[in-house]
Amino acid sequence: MKTTPTSSSNGCCSPRSVQTAPIQPQTVQNLSVVNLDVSAVGNSGAEAVKTMVRSSYGEVAKKSSAKNSSDCGCGCSTDNPFNLESYENLDGYDPAADLGLGCGIPTELALLEPGNHVLDLGSGGGIDAFIARKAIGESGKVVGVDFTPEMIALAQKNARELGFENVSFVLGDIENLPLESDSFDRILSNCVLNLVPDKQAAFAEMHRVLKTGGLFTVSDIVTVGDLPSGIRDSAAAYAGCVASAIPKDEYISLLEETGFQVDILKDAPLSFTDEYLLQWVGPQELAAFRDSGAQVTSVTLRGKKS
Ligand SMILES: C[S@@+](CC[C@H](N)C(=O)[O-])C[C@H]1O[C@@H](n2cnc3c(N)ncnc32)[C@H](O)[C@@H]1O
Repeated sequence: MKTTPTSSSNGCCSPRSVQTAPIQPQTVQNLSVVNLDVSAVGNSGAEAVKTMVRSSYGEVAKKSSAKNSSDCGCGCSTDNPFNLESYENLDGYDPAADLGLGCGIPTELALLEPGNHVLDLGSGGGIDAFIARKAIGESGKVVGVDFTPEMIALAQKNARELGFENVSFVLGDIENLPLESDSFDRILSNCVLNLVPDKQAAFAEMHRVLKTGGLFTVSDIVTVGDLPSGIRDSAAAYAGCVASAIPKDEYISLLEETGFQVDILKDAPLSFTDEYLLQWVGPQELAAFRDSGAQVTSVTLRGKKS
């Protein structure tokens, strides 16, 4: 019988330093800041999931504020399970706002234009909002929405310190946005929607607040094929967003049913070494998984409201 390996629980997602070395499991001293084991709440429902998510990211924000540094995201690890390109060189990058929680770089593909009104869903410490602000200039505006009060406080503090007057952060739930219809040219979201229990409601809200012809660009974690439970657990231990990720086809179908035309801009499967996975599953299950082609992947999608 396999023993359960030590979990690093990097959460969604680990810091964004460029790293090409194979992914290795982390040790438990890097404590689990974000333990997104949604199965732990059983059938107690969507509100329990949200309470857990809010409390987990509240801790991340408090920890970040206390340390005033960006070196500790969900799991305080130096690994980068999504092999993200570096954020640090992007115009508008602010280290205090980068909690290392993203799983893509939606801003680079968002076709942002000067004067745009931009909404960032699940804005965390504000990193994507500040990068977007640089692209849209003084004549545009950015609104970040997050349902974790500590994240909103952190992002507002960052905006104040940067002296930005056209970036604001609003407390609210993506499933029920406190925003007017048809009011944004662009929507961004980075590694957030997988955490939202009612994705249909979230996508409907995105559609409602976008202007006709407006675009969303979203980076998120999805699954492909049937993931054996041991493999899902191992991936979730590595990157917390995996715990509640849904199949890629279902995600895209839901967006299309909402009324968006969707394009896949990036698709970057997470790769795990056999050595890592063998801590979670036996050799036969590992071989079956490798043969099946099942994956956990970070996608960046763009959708248009026509
Ligand atoms: C993985 S973090 C990503 C933060 C930020 N996008 C980034 O890349 O740094 C997820 C964020 O989404 C927020 N969030 C999760 N579910 C939400 C919901 N239903 N409504 C609003 N915010 C939500 C969390 O509070 C957290 O700040």
